[in-house]
Amino acid sequence: MPDDVVDLLLAQHARIEELFLLVSGGTGEARKDAFDDLVRLLAVHETAEEEVVHPLGRTLPGGNDAVIDERLAEERQAKEMLRTLIDGGVDADGFDAGIVLLRDAVLMHARHEERYEFPRLRQHVPADRLRALAGAVRAAEEFAPTRPHPGAESAKANLIAGPPLAVLDRVRDVVRRAADGEAS
Ligand SMILES: [Fe+2]
Ligand SMILES: [Fe+2]
Repeated sequence: MPDDVVDLLLAQHARIEELFLLVSGGTGEARKDAFDDLVRLLAVHETAEEEVVHPLGRTLPGGNDAVIDERLAEERQAKEMLRTLIDGGVDADGFDAGIVLLRDAVLMHARHEERYEFPRLRQHVPADRLRALAGAVRAAEEFAPTRPHPGAESAKANLIAGPPLAVLDRVRDVVRRAADGEAS
């Protein structure tokens, strides 16, 4: 299991890429499930970055606000694209074209983070803090499980079970609470 927040976010980038493949190449229920997993993981991942990682990035030596602002703009744009896809559903006309555009945008965004942002976290943030932040991101993941595993549901997980759009909207509170817990 990834140990610090950078490893965890990198692992999530890889999983996001995999899920895009499963959505594009899938059919029927498997495709719906893969899209649902993708929505949940993107909600957790991008919200954790917006709430925890990018604000931290601004405080680091040599911090470049323009780099962070660009990442936030990319995340906002991707979220709008995702909302449109969720609204229409996987069977909508235009879903196939839309998911390709979203994939390209999200993967390019991830490469930018890996190139311009994550190395500075590694360089300037103490290892124990990076480990603690991974705990906050994992707590958020627990609230938005990528698949309702039989027997693994918890009261916590149920808080955020529900339609993908609801997940997208509610995960921010969860990430904030987890990050506050980590900070106190
Ligand atoms: Fe991001
Ligand atoms: Fe990311």
